[in-house]
Order: sequence, then C-alpha cells, then structure tokens
Amino acid sequence: MLIVKSLHIWMVVSWFAGLFYLPRIFVNLAMVPAESVAERERLLLMAGKLYKFMTPLAVLAIVLGLWLWFGYGFSGGWLHAKTTLVGLLAVYHWHCGRLLTEFKNGRCSKSHVWFRFYNELPVLVLLAVVFLVVLKPF
Ligand code: HEM
Repeated sequence: MLIVKSLHIWMVVSWFAGLFYLPRIFVNLAMVPAESVAERERLLLMAGKLYKFMTPLAVLAIVLGLWLWFGYGFSGGWLHAKTTLVGLLAVYHWHCGRLLTEFKNGRCSKSHVWFRFYNELPVLVLLAVVFLVVLKPF
C-alpha cells in the first residue's frame, strides 16, 4: 500500500506542476502584443507540450488514488469530499485544454488579470485536499 501511495503522491505533485504552470503561460499569452508573432508561437508551443505531458499524469494520479480507495478499503466522508474536489480539478484540467484551443485559434479574449485569478484555483483546491486526506476530519 505504501508503494501505491508513494506513486500516487508522485503523480499528484507532477500533475500539479502542470496545473500551476499552464495558466501562468496563459497569463503571458494574454499579455503578448498582437505584432509579437514569434513570442506568441513560442508560448503556444510550450503550452501545447505541457498540456500533452500533464494529461497522462492526471490520469495516473487518479487511477492510483482509486487503487488506494478500492484496493485497500479506505472509506469516510473525507474521501467523498476529496474525490469531489478532484472532480473539479479534472474539469479545470479539461477547461485549460479548451482555453489552449481558443488561444491557438486567436479567439481567447480573457485578460491577463482574469488568468491571474484563474491560476489560483488549483492552489486552493490543493490546500483543501491535503487537509482532507491528512486530517480526515469527517
Ligand atoms: C480520485 C482521485 C483520488 C483518490 C480516490 C484518492 C485517494 C487517496 C487515498 C485512499 C489515500 C490514502 C490515504 C491514507 O493513507 O491515509 C490518498 C493519499 C493521498 N492523496 Fe489521494 N486520491 C485522489 C487524488 C488525489 C489528488 C488529486 C491529490 C492532490 C490534490 C491527492 C493527494 C493525496 C495525498 C497528499 C495523500 C497522502 C496522505 C497521507 O499520506 O496521509 N490525492 N489518496
């Protein structure tokens, strides 16, 4: 069980590296002047590669979590609250993919300020999930 949990935490941390950095690239993309085509292409390339890299990490983090849940008999309200929050993270991940497509098509009109707030959402979810899984308050 400890090997599965170690792999779970490893994949969770790796997934979060992408969840923290991709929206930061979106902040920069939203600030790129229209005439800076080379900079925009470079940021789009980085964002595309990062999204492709972080998607299997998300799947592995969730699969290993489910393995812990169903393979080792964990239970409790904390786990339901946690998986609900993880469901939100998965929607956030998917929405980042939508935003990336909008940027690629030149159709993203959201400001860099909007993306700065958007960037903080995974931070808050991580805080809540870590407290839930370590403290198991209910
Ligand atoms: C559907 C997805 C997930 C499920 C079913 C799940 C389930 C679990 C379970 C059953 C444990 C073992 C708890 C224990 O040993 O006390 C665990 C550990 C952990 N999970 Fe998840 N998890 C999921 C996703 C995540 C995500 C997305 C995060 C981060 C935001 C996360 C963070 C952690 C941490 C930090 C631990 C170690 C806690 C400890 O050792 O006390 N998990 N997870």
